[in-house]
Amino acid sequence: MSKRLSNKVALITGSSRGIGRAAALAFAKEGAGLIGIHYGANPDAAQATVRDIEALGAKAVALKADLRQGREAAYSLWDQFKQAAIASTGSPDLDILVNNAGIAPATSLKDTTAVAFEELMAINYTAPFFLIQAAADHIRDNGRIINVSTGFTRIAAPTHPAYAASKGALETLTLALAPEFGKRGITVNAVLPGVTETDMNAEWLAAPEARAGAEALSVFSRVGRTDDVADVITFLASNDARWTTGQRIDATGGARI
Ligand SMILES: NC(=O)c1ccc[n+]([C@@H]2O[C@H](COP(=O)([O-])OP(=O)(O)OC[C@H]3O[C@@H](n4cnc5c(N)ncnc54)[C@H](OP(=O)(O)O)[C@@H]3O)[C@@H](O)[C@H]2O)c1
Repeated sequence: MSKRLSNKVALITGSSRGIGRAAALAFAKEGAGLIGIHYGANPDAAQATVRDIEALGAKAVALKADLRQGREAAYSLWDQFKQAAIASTGSPDLDILVNNAGIAPATSLKDTTAVAFEELMAINYTAPFFLIQAAADHIRDNGRIINVSTGFTRIAAPTHPAYAASKGALETLTLALAPEFGKRGITVNAVLPGVTETDMNAEWLAAPEARAGAEALSVFSRVGRTDDVADVITFLASNDARWTTGQRIDATGGARI
């Protein structure tokens, strides 16, 4: 069977761990040529992901940028990726950009400080916006932009108001950009994971009652695995999803439908 991402060049933010890492491994299995593994604070995890990708026969490079720095970090990441792509492929161009890195603090309206709010928006919205801006002219025709959002834009999340709204902004951006990129056959879509088994949730999912509550959200009565979400991202990255753009694709396991 032919691979769906043969020789594609991809950059995935926050791919040292969790959903981003699973997407990077899935891309490698589908034949991707080069994958940029972005991270913020965890070089060991990023290097481990690079090694696992290389073991699958793809090239990978770890790229550090602290997205709390918003636009500046996005441009720094793009510059690093461009250099790595030129060194590896002879061209600065890429096929697939996945804005996946994010934080999801459970902070109520009342407890959200200005500093925490700015940090959340910088990582979850400002950095993706400017990374798309920085990369735009280098995304090849028929390329892909995939933004990782959250099911909390569909299901009310009083525990995470600022987080849900930061992802709402990312989804609105997804819709707004689709016509412009469509002229070059590039699709722009958002993926909405539900509760997924990653470091982000490890602490609270360790409590049996909380886990049971999380499992009950999905019609499949379980918590999502990273590959459940990564497979949806991979579909959107592939030619199979060429006719889908400007969309929010739910990957919550039918949570609260
Ligand atoms: N897990 C879920 O249940 C769930 C549900 C809905 C939506 N999502 C969304 O899915 C995406 C991935 O979540 P995840 O659960 O896979 O997260 P995770 O396991 O906590 O991993 C987060 C990733 O983002 C990077 N990152 C975090 N803060 C950063 C910063 N300041 N600068 C640069 N990189 C930073 C991390 O890099 P380091 O390794 O260097 O720290 C890591 O690669 C996020 O956008 C999240 O909002 C997750």
